[in-house]
Amino acid sequence: MRILVTGKNGQLGRSIQKLVNTDSKINNNQSSNDFIFVGREEMDLSSEGNINHYFGNNDKFDLIINCAAYTQVDRAEQESELANQINHLAVKQLASIANEQQTRLIHISTDYVFDGESDKPLIETDIPNPINVYCRTKLSGEKALQTLMPTNAIIIRASWLYSEYGNNFVNTILKLGKERDELSVVSDQIGSPTYAADLADVILEIIKHKKFRDAGQTTQIYHYSNEGKISWYEFAREIFKIKKIECLVNPISLKQYPSPTKRPRNTLMNKDKIVRVFNIKISNWKSSLNTCMTILKKQQ
Ligand SMILES: NC(=O)c1ccc[n+]([C@@H]2O[C@H](COP(=O)([O-])OP(=O)(O)OC[C@H]3O[C@@H](n4cnc5c(N)ncnc54)[C@H](OP(=O)(O)O)[C@@H]3O)[C@@H](O)[C@H]2O)c1
Repeated sequence: MRILVTGKNGQLGRSIQKLVNTDSKINNNQSSNDFIFVGREEMDLSSEGNINHYFGNNDKFDLIINCAAYTQVDRAEQESELANQINHLAVKQLASIANEQQTRLIHISTDYVFDGESDKPLIETDIPNPINVYCRTKLSGEKALQTLMPTNAIIIRASWLYSEYGNNFVNTILKLGKERDELSVVSDQIGSPTYAADLADVILEIIKHKKFRDAGQTTQIYHYSNEGKISWYEFAREIFKIKKIECLVNPISLKQYPSPTKRPRNTLMNKDKIVRVFNIKISNWKSSLNTCMTILKKQQ
């Protein structure tokens, strides 16, 4: 398969690249997958013309994995048009091109499409109710994709993504822990983190799976994160525990968190569907966090 991966410089894009470069099962002669990674330099998702130009000047792809997104939750409130273009209109355009070229599409979405008011782990058929600009644009992207591609696409909703790359909660907490003696972290926002390397692994498992390879399958949404149920406060404490950083973590409520943007309170997702359909195993959040931090340590 010729596989186009967008967002090559982002957390998930980089995690997929790393896996593709190291997994001999993916790169051996039997499976002739050809991965092409693009960032905004090659295809700028903020420009309809640029997207058309990219596809017009490249051979047809068998699969697009869309890891690119506008992910600045706070800034999206001021840049709603740009966030909508990247998270909604560009996804719509990718879906339309995929449809025309009979290309599969795997698109990444978020637990933040939900309002966070349910106390039960969220299943794929629960009704979304986005509560800020970023969340609304991500849901609009999902809906546009489903309308244009009733078959041959997959949407994976992930939550609290972190990795060895870029700015994310783990890197931010580690940096703050080295600079300060005390930190306040939200303790009443509940969910489960997603280690980007685990999600990358799952995506590569999915594309090898017969269920995905058979053409004409109805488009589906799947929930994916690591296992466990925690707050950001517990996440921060575990990061300090692993790294043996002496920094006091004070629990605060979401209301006390100094951000003008509303965030959903409880977005823990039920992952039974993805486990059942693709027969995957999901690691517990603590073991994945340990893996990530071991890699971070080696990089220092
Ligand atoms: N981060 C989270 O906590 C989280 C949680 C749940 C779901 N998700 C979803 O998971 C997916 C992957 O997230 P991530 O954390 O890997 O995101 P990320 O690290 O922020 O990476 C997003 C990538 O999108 C690219 N991008 C942004 N604007 C673009 C444009 N105009 N044209 C082309 N590329 C553009 C960025 O390019 P540059 O590097 O050039 O800026 C970046 O490489 C996204 O769909 C996100 O919504 C993320």
